[in-house]
Amino acid sequence: VSESKRIAVIGGGAVGRALYAGLAGAGHDLVMGVRDPADPKHVTDPPVHLADHVAAVSGAAVVILAVPVPALADVVPTLGLATGQIVVDATNAVRIPVPDGHSTVGDHVASLLPAGVLLVKAFNTIGAEHLGTGRIDGVAAFLPIAGDEAGLVVVAELAADIGFDVAELGDRSAFAMVEDHARLWIHLAFVGGWGRNFGFVVRYD
Ligand SMILES: NC(=O)c1ccc[n+]([C@@H]2O[C@H](COP(=O)([O-])OP(=O)(O)OC[C@H]3O[C@@H](n4cnc5c(N)ncnc54)[C@H](OP(=O)(O)O)[C@@H]3O)[C@@H](O)[C@H]2O)c1
Repeated sequence: VSESKRIAVIGGGAVGRALYAGLAGAGHDLVMGVRDPADPKHVTDPPVHLADHVAAVSGAAVVILAVPVPALADVVPTLGLATGQIVVDATNAVRIPVPDGHSTVGDHVASLLPAGVLLVKAFNTIGAEHLGTGRIDGVAAFLPIAGDEAGLVVVAELAADIGFDVAELGDRSAFAMVEDHARLWIHLAFVGGWGRNFGFVVRYD
């Protein structure tokens, strides 16, 4: 387990819940930022540390975006993000265009961030079912990530703490490669008929 830093997950859906569980299980300090912390849909056993978006982001070292892509333009500018915080974009534009004519969702998120916030694309390339374990049939699943170097090393460590086999692809110019990898998984799952219960594993000879 790496040095504990507060991690805020924004969005209480399948991805937010899985990453919360995986990172909390690895010993990290988690808060889930949701639109309505009093909504009974968030009552779970064990309970999740809930807050509104701004309270969740305040004091967090890492902020994971786990909301639908069309919500990003409303959500990201209102989070109160500060210089030095690391934002992790876990989203995919599935069957919808990337907003505002950007070539990747990562670039769209970048356009919404204040200066000085680090951005990493990660946790978008495998189904939510495996995001909490980082494992496929007991084997570490391949997780390609990309983004700003100082954030990339932190997120790589968090992903490894969950159990993933992490590949750092490079800076923001590699967002497209990460999003293409997600497209491959989604294509195989839904067009290829593989279903959701698979992931990629790297083997060396
Ligand atoms: N599902 C997967 O297997 C998977 C895997 C990898 C990546 N992704 C990507 O990760 C993101 C989240 O996926 P998901 O399946 O967890 O999505 P989801 O269940 O549809 O939504 C996630 C959460 O986002 C919040 N939300 C929804 N609409 C919102 C709005 N208009 N404004 C603010 N918050 C809103 C809700 O949280 P509250 O009501 O609690 O605030 C909701 O529970 C998506 O971009 C998706 O493409 C999904």
